[in-house]
Amino acid sequence: MKAFIIDRYGKKEVGRIGEMPAPEVRDDDVLIQVHAASVNPLDSKIKSGEFKLILPYRLPLVLGNDVAGKVVRVGARVRDFKPGDEVYARPDDDRIGTFAELVAIKASSVALKPRSLSLVEAAALPLVALTAWQVLVETAKLKKGQKVFIQAGSGGVGSIAIQLAKHLGAFVATTTSTANADWAKTLGADVVIDYKKQDFASVLRDYDVVLNSLGNDELNKSLQILKPGGHLISISGPPTPAFAAERGLAWPVKQVLRLLSAGIRRKARHKGLHYSFVFMRADGAQLREITALVESGAIRPVIDNAFPFADTDKALAYGESGRAKGKVVVQVI
Ligand SMILES: NC(=O)c1ccc[n+]([C@@H]2O[C@H](COP(=O)([O-])OP(=O)(O)OC[C@H]3O[C@@H](n4cnc5c(N)ncnc54)[C@H](OP(=O)(O)O)[C@@H]3O)[C@@H](O)[C@H]2O)c1
Repeated sequence: MKAFIIDRYGKKEVGRIGEMPAPEVRDDDVLIQVHAASVNPLDSKIKSGEFKLILPYRLPLVLGNDVAGKVVRVGARVRDFKPGDEVYARPDDDRIGTFAELVAIKASSVALKPRSLSLVEAAALPLVALTAWQVLVETAKLKKGQKVFIQAGSGGVGSIAIQLAKHLGAFVATTTSTANADWAKTLGADVVIDYKKQDFASVLRDYDVVLNSLGNDELNKSLQILKPGGHLISISGPPTPAFAAERGLAWPVKQVLRLLSAGIRRKARHKGLHYSFVFMRADGAQLREITALVESGAIRPVIDNAFPFADTDKALAYGESGRAKGKVVVQVI
């Protein structure tokens, strides 16, 4: 099959389209003919080697962490899907590779795609919507009337997290650049701070939850806007020893993560705040909840741009610019 492959890790690695063997279909898997796959910063971080410690892959590696397509075959133990079903998924960490003609994914990580979406639109959702769900519903347990600050509201995660938080009944603040400020309000943000002109830490007060997706500066400033007992949840690091334990990472890796996160954990503790790191995981049951939210009109995918499969390298480079408004999709068919 044709696939977008990296041969080595490195900032200069661009990847290439080449031939790879079709994936092995295990008894619990569905084999999906990929129609579309969206781009995530995770693809670029894997490509650069930044995630080697946490996600040790064998090279050459097919990149891609999001898919929408048609089931072509199911494993012997699969009962919930049949050939012809239109599905979407974020594959499990150790089985990525959606920038390809075919991908095999555990059936428990797959869901039927929302009927109201095309396959291109559906491909924009799984990873970012699961991230938003695992941060806001699972970790923060966000309740009606609570105040949440979602950084980078125009990004892939931000644009879905705003809609989900609003659906949960929260009061939502976000940051965007000048050009995207009005648009973020249409997603449901109650307060939009233009980060080019104002510092969010001097405007926001008494928040219950922060979703941090930016750097160290924003992470530390987020502590200032939380009320006592508030929860700072970061998806851009630093990872915690609790995350290392959950993932069963080796002892030396756990010690590295302990050191990396010691500062923010200590500062949060002194202020009576909680700090968590979330690294999203594949989950078909949660994806079914997301399908229902899309079908009820509560959330919709946001697509900046779509590229043909032959231009997957350009799609990744566009994502790496950090300026995408919503998601970048690769159309494999
Ligand atoms: N841990 C996890 O499970 C997990 C899951 C998903 C993503 N992530 C991480 O979360 C981060 C965001 O992911 P993403 O997919 O949302 O990225 P993205 O879509 O590539 O983010 C691009 C957006 O960020 C905005 N932005 C850039 N700098 C900003 C700033 N200083 N303040 C406010 N907005 C800013 C840009 O808006 P302007 O053009 O207007 O500046 C652009 O719309 C990445 O580091 C990614 O690796 C982690």
